[in-house]
Amino acid sequence: MTKEKTKLKHVAIIMDGNGRWAKKRNLPRLMGHRAGVKTVRKIIEVSLELGVKYLTLYTFSTENWRRPRKEVSILMNLLKEYLIKELKQFNKEGIRLLAIGQLERLPQSVKEALYKTINETKDNSKLNLILALSYGGRNEITEASRKIAEDVKTNRIQPEQVTKELFSKYLYTHNIPDPDLLIRTSNELRLSNFLLWQLSYAELYFSHKLWPDFTKKDFKIIVEDYNKRERRFGNI
Ligand code: IPE
Ligand code: IPE
Ligand code: MG
Repeated sequence: MTKEKTKLKHVAIIMDGNGRWAKKRNLPRLMGHRAGVKTVRKIIEVSLELGVKYLTLYTFSTENWRRPRKEVSILMNLLKEYLIKELKQFNKEGIRLLAIGQLERLPQSVKEALYKTINETKDNSKLNLILALSYGGRNEITEASRKIAEDVKTNRIQPEQVTKELFSKYLYTHNIPDPDLLIRTSNELRLSNFLLWQLSYAELYFSHKLWPDFTKKDFKIIVEDYNKRERRFGNI
């Protein structure tokens, strides 16, 4: 299966379990997040290998701002370091970086690194890597509704023009196809406010592995399973 391409276009992942991974080893949470970054690299590589076109990673949720200040700062530093370090590799591999979420809430230095990497990878097309940062599904839907209301108020659109297709255009993901497959690690069976609109018809897969322990092989097994599933979209 290694060289075989998948019909799967977009995979979304809730990367969960870094903290528990560290705790099990009596290590600080930072080490769990660092180990999690290594898994990200592996999953990017296997996505390229399988021909996945879009990979969305839930990296930081709007709710994660509520974590202790020290943990937030560790995560932001790690993110900045990651964006700076990976830029060269992204260009080598043909990866285009995108980001969704309330990006304006990110610290200035993270924003700078983020926009630099986004800008300098914009012509790549092999794999679109989408980081969900300060992302929350309900915020996304609420913000879209607000923009639509403003556009109606200023007569740019009429209420009867508000269809699900138009609505999608107001979301952060306006030019990204919906995920075909959602994976969540660490045995938590919930969405935690991730892509609430876009996941309507995604196939769901929950792995018991903690994110730092998740491997290329695990990913391939899930993709193989996905390839066997029949998606009916309400039809028979
Ligand atoms: C996922 O790991 C990474 C982020 C949410 C940023 P966690 O930090 O949630 O790890 P657990 O759930 O505490 O094990
Ligand atoms: C979801 O994980 C968010 C990310 C992976 C970035 P959390 O660990 O924050 O979710 P809950 O709190 O268990 O729902
Ligand atoms: Mg967690």
